[in-house]
Amino acid sequence: MSDRANLLISEMLKRVHEVVVEHDVTYDEYQAAKQWFIDVGEAGEWPLFGDVYIEHWVEEQAFSDRAGSKGTILGPFHIPDAPLLDAPFELPARPDESGTKTVFRGQVTDADGAPLANANLDVWQADADGCYAGFMPGPPDGNLRGQVRADDEGRYEVRTVIPGPYTIPLDGPTGKMTAAADWSPWRPAHIHLIVSAENHEPLVTQLFIGSSDHLDEDVASAVKPELIVHPKPSETDEGYEEFEYDFALAPSRATANV
Ligand code: BEZ
Ligand code: FE
Repeated sequence: MSDRANLLISEMLKRVHEVVVEHDVTYDEYQAAKQWFIDVGEAGEWPLFGDVYIEHWVEEQAFSDRAGSKGTILGPFHIPDAPLLDAPFELPARPDESGTKTVFRGQVTDADGAPLANANLDVWQADADGCYAGFMPGPPDGNLRGQVRADDEGRYEVRTVIPGPYTIPLDGPTGKMTAAADWSPWRPAHIHLIVSAENHEPLVTQLFIGSSDHLDEDVASAVKPELIVHPKPSETDEGYEEFEYDFALAPSRATANV
């Protein structure tokens, strides 16, 4: 076993052992915890549990000193290789997709503000009812998912609808644990992005809708003030709200010191 594995496993177990001793954990509680581990596995919820209760701390730690825009967690609902859309960019949606139409635009630059031509934005989100295509009943495959290209000045524009907030599944073991602890199961409304450009670190982030409920009680602890946006009625696109957001990418680690 590597020294690193030895260290991390020992430290994690030590923390668990300390809780047992400090809080007099009973045999009944130990058996309930064991059953809960089994239930999480059987429900296929380990990725959900990890992304709700652990990923945020890993993300903060990994990128605390990274230049450029703030990122946040990836979460469990990304599907790689979404189709590259054609300009003008609009996320695929049902003809009767509900929710407020919105257009957001901005510029992708490096950490010093120089434009990154042809940057890629992989965008995915829940619908207005808080449902993700591919994971929840309702939206068809590929709904509200797609890749968007910035122009030769790094400028991009995306049309979509404002997503709804949603809860993690309440009837699964992660939801039941959350209820047992009397914590909020909600994620506030957000749009996910991975912004990437050659020779730069991909930025995994989320833009949180400022008018959403639950911004201050995100079950996944992923909200950061820098990531909150405030869509306002558009003056140029009738029936749309709009907001702006610029992304600054750090140089890739491999080339950072070149
Ligand atoms: C999400 O961003 O959609 C998400 C993140 C963590 C857990 C569940 C969902
Ligand atoms: Fe999400």
